[in-house]
Amino acid sequence: MAEVNKQPLKLAGKISIITGGASGIGEATARFFATHGAFVVIADIQDEEGHQVATSIGSNRCTYFHCDVTDERQVISVVDFTVETYGHLDIMFSNAGIVSTSVQTVLDLDLTQFDALMAVNARGSAACVKHAARAMVERRVRGCIICTASVAGSRGGSVRTDYVMAKHAVVGLVRSASKQLGVHGIRVNCVSPSAVATPLSKRSPERARKTMKLYERLSSLKGVELGVADVAEAVVFLASDGSSFITGHDLAVDGGLTKLPDADDLVAYNS
Ligand SMILES: NC(=O)c1ccc[n+]([C@@H]2O[C@H](COP(=O)([O-])OP(=O)(O)OC[C@H]3O[C@@H](n4cnc5c(N)ncnc54)[C@H](O)[C@@H]3O)[C@@H](O)[C@H]2O)c1
Repeated sequence: MAEVNKQPLKLAGKISIITGGASGIGEATARFFATHGAFVVIADIQDEEGHQVATSIGSNRCTYFHCDVTDERQVISVVDFTVETYGHLDIMFSNAGIVSTSVQTVLDLDLTQFDALMAVNARGSAACVKHAARAMVERRVRGCIICTASVAGSRGGSVRTDYVMAKHAVVGLVRSASKQLGVHGIRVNCVSPSAVATPLSKRSPERARKTMKLYERLSSLKGVELGVADVAEAVVFLASDGSSFITGHDLAVDGGLTKLPDADDLVAYNS
């Protein structure tokens, strides 16, 4: 289980769903949430990995539920399961995401891959926000919704046009949902990481290391690389009462990368 400093539990008793929780950022966040006292339902399509993560966290804190976010009925099912099991839903972390296998410049855009990516990254996020919000509103829960966007959600890029578009859509979803749900006391925010070494990019370890070095050179913070724990910490903050007056915010977890004028061309490359 993740290390947490000796401090009060930030999410004691909170009921949460984490999509894409079987791997990478979602897995790290599931571990941090549980360590901070939350109950976690991991929603993913990688059943074996998801069950393994849930078991290693502990069945008293974490459950795995198969959910393909491209299918709205499956999103409804995981929300219903959570509410039936725990009584209500406090936190939705909509984090599941994919990248296309080709470079996806505008001139070579493969629209079949485009549709598949949009179905997970944009439409899937909308379904998760919609059904989490409905469950919260119905039970008068002043909950938190957090999405994983990306540094690609605020800049253009030389490749991965579909990914850049989908992450812009996620930021738009968060901004609209935060305006609409504020009246119910529901906060909606997103985190925007730069490159993190996870299975997402499907790179060889050697190439992944080179990419991380490149990002490190281009961020303001030197001598450190972004890790999944850094993103998980930001999500815990946005899910906790420590951020109780923060909504509609896109929290960059990027070492200052998006504040640098010469970083424009990079942001869509890895993430
Ligand atoms: N790794 C990076 O550099 C980076 C940077 C910025 C943003 N992000 C975003 O972070 C999020 C998590 O990515 P990661 O890097 O941890 O990658 P990852 O591949 O380790 O995790 C993604 C998870 O999403 C799940 N998933 C994919 N399609 C799904 C579907 N249809 N329904 C349910 N689950 C599905 C996968 O099974 C996997 O467990 C993604 O939204 C990604 O776009 C990643």
